[in-house]
Amino acid sequence: MADNSTTNNTINKSWRPATNLVRGGTNRSNFAETNEGIFLTSGFVYETAEQAQRAFKGEEDRFIYSRFSNPTVGMFEERMALLENAKACRATATGMAAVNAALAASVKAGDRLVASKALFGSCDYICRELLPKFGVETTMVNGTDLDEWEAALNKPTAAVFMETPSNPQMDIIDIEKVSKIAHKVGARVIVDNVLATPILQKPLEFGADVVIYSATKHIDGQGRAMGGCVLTNDIEWSDGDLKQYMRHTGPSLSPFNAWVHLKSLETLEIRVQHHCRSAQKVAEFLENQKVIKKVLFPGLESHPQFALAQKQMSGPGTVICFELEGNMARTFRFMNAMNLIDISNNLGDAKSLLTHPATTTHQRLTPEGRLEVGITDSLVRLSVGLEDVEDIIEDLDQALKV
Ligand SMILES: Cc1ncc(COP(=O)(O)O)c(C=O)c1O
Repeated sequence: MADNSTTNNTINKSWRPATNLVRGGTNRSNFAETNEGIFLTSGFVYETAEQAQRAFKGEEDRFIYSRFSNPTVGMFEERMALLENAKACRATATGMAAVNAALAASVKAGDRLVASKALFGSCDYICRELLPKFGVETTMVNGTDLDEWEAALNKPTAAVFMETPSNPQMDIIDIEKVSKIAHKVGARVIVDNVLATPILQKPLEFGADVVIYSATKHIDGQGRAMGGCVLTNDIEWSDGDLKQYMRHTGPSLSPFNAWVHLKSLETLEIRVQHHCRSAQKVAEFLENQKVIKKVLFPGLESHPQFALAQKQMSGPGTVICFELEGNMARTFRFMNAMNLIDISNNLGDAKSLLTHPATTTHQRLTPEGRLEVGITDSLVRLSVGLEDVEDIIEDLDQALKV
């Protein structure tokens, strides 16, 4: 949560989750506004030089500078923490800033990081290329194989990083089992929960130590604002290494974007449930199409980790991954034939979006690296939007015939 935040005058921790999504963290100013205020200010003023001195010494609880904390950002952090049942939340400018901050504040030269191989392209870059440049030894494992985690986590390790479901292939990793293995060697378990959303999966309840979000995705959900956050119950780490890293390197969320995300949280659950219902119908439609080789969606019994998805997720998710028969030209023909669904690399939007991971989000991996994690040239990722599901299915149906 925000440092130096003012006393929160409307918070009630006993509210139920749906109420917290609408009201949690609200901090009214003296103007008694109904809607949360946007405090679009870089700095704050002091009554005296002594007060400024006390603030910088940490002797007075107040806002200092929006790189450190801000009232609107603080409301977003408080609401996210309530949603996740976490003791601390630190908001970031993007989801990648959250991934980077959580990892940078967990490892140092000489430390080990163990991560699952099936990662979003930028997460893969941080684990496989960036951190090793700073002397961190990274081991990548097949996240769905517990034996690989056991083998890699056989010596002291500072951090474990995973995405579940993974982007784009929808691999599901057993958070509870991997956390147990990781904790034996002292690793901090960091879960990128972007595809599951905070509505469908709560990694902290399964033993993870840190949860990451790109708020750019379902939290905003309407394609407007970038954002992210790091959530944890480890107050010592949050108030220590993580806070220092964020204060001094500046990946802070803008107050305006925090306000957009606050507004979006009010409808997050309703939107995610609608996305899930539509995604289930679309996945079932796709599974019955002859020109589709395979469909990967956690709500289908054919998903390799269907049972695990049922255990740790309360819904199937909003993203479907599928592979067409034929080559890349055939796949591009299908994508270019869309009338309603847009081609875009984003996901979790009200608009249905179609991505070709091999040439966009994962283009910087080698062809072998892509194949190792199941990203072929005929694989597409569909983020199912909030349009009428029959229109989405009709669009896919006509494009599959082209
Ligand atoms: C799984 C996952 N993690 C992190 C990110 C990064 O989020 P952002 O684009 O907000 O930096 C993305 C973006 O696509 C993602 O899919």
